[in-house]
Amino acid sequence: MTLQEALRLYLPPVEQALQQILTPPTEDFKPFYQMMQYHHGWLDERFRPTGQQGGKRIRPLLCLLCCGAAFGQPHELTPLAAAIELLHSFSLVHDDIQDRSPTRRHRPAVWALWGEAQAINVGDALYAAAQWSLSALAGSLEPTRVCALRSQFDETCLRLCEGQYLDLEFSSRPTVSREQYLLMIERKTAWLLGYCAWAGSFAAGVSESVAARYREFGLCLGLAFQVLDDVLGVWGAEDETGKPSSSDIVEAKKTLPYIEALAMLPADLAQELQAIYRGPESTREEAAVARARELMEQAGARRACLKLAAHYHERAVQILKELNPEPEHAEALLELVSLLSTRRS
Ligand code: IPE
Ligand code: IPE
Ligand code: MG
Ligand code: MG
Repeated sequence: MTLQEALRLYLPPVEQALQQILTPPTEDFKPFYQMMQYHHGWLDERFRPTGQQGGKRIRPLLCLLCCGAAFGQPHELTPLAAAIELLHSFSLVHDDIQDRSPTRRHRPAVWALWGEAQAINVGDALYAAAQWSLSALAGSLEPTRVCALRSQFDETCLRLCEGQYLDLEFSSRPTVSREQYLLMIERKTAWLLGYCAWAGSFAAGVSESVAARYREFGLCLGLAFQVLDDVLGVWGAEDETGKPSSSDIVEAKKTLPYIEALAMLPADLAQELQAIYRGPESTREEAAVARARELMEQAGARRACLKLAAHYHERAVQILKELNPEPEHAEALLELVSLLSTRRS
């Protein structure tokens, strides 16, 4: 099965479940739900239908494909896949407030349109909607499996918040080691992809050890995903990423390109880069941002990051192959891995 075929087969029911759960219960709350619908790309900022969706839906797809790869029934997991996307949505709405990022998916972030307070509300509601969606699993899976899926879902959310905590806390540290960075991205991003792969296979009924290998597969994908996101945060093009270009430099995020550059640059240039990151955000105007990017490039930081991402992708592919997955779903998963390894958005 190609990735396109998998998308057409599995994602429409997930989109439908998402739309259903985000339907306003009464007219009084319509604009509130429309803000949530806006985030998912279905409405524009004046709440007119766009006929589109925002976001790549990688996480629900990963969950459903891993379920199929483990010889399960992906369609039974639609509520779980929807819950996973809702958890991701909650994290993005709050992340944009935390990062003060005004743009998401080529459009103003929720907080930039309706203010921080309502954006916190929107994020909280998306999190609650995720929990609510999970309760629909009881119809198709046995209670002990549902219980384990829910408990791991909650742990994943906690890990994600831990990662977000570290991410923000890093901005007040003078330096961050590679190990600390990897712990942070494991928590804020990779854990959720690990959960997607684990949950899909676990729901299919595989043994604990096989499900653990699926989790490892998802974790590797997630680590590579965030490393590439951090490369795009420095060198990505705004018209492709849908986020402000060089936003991580402007926000002085201590991501891997910065950490690698400091390790590789001669002392005077490392000091120059550190000085750019040390000042208040207002000092990082265009020329300073361009210089920081140049220093990181010159250091070979981009190459080092791409090498690490490729390493995680190779590990992911190796683990998947060792799992003897169902061939049709394995084909789609391998195509997904390959797409993720060259993504520009
Ligand atoms: C963005 O994730 C947040 C990160 C973990 C880097 P995605 O790039 O999957 O976001 P969408 O849903 O496709 O916009
Ligand atoms: C995304 O982190 C992780 C979560 C939202 C949990 P980033 O802040 O690096 O992601 P973008 O670049 O804003 O999408
Ligand atoms: Mg962000
Ligand atoms: Mg962030």
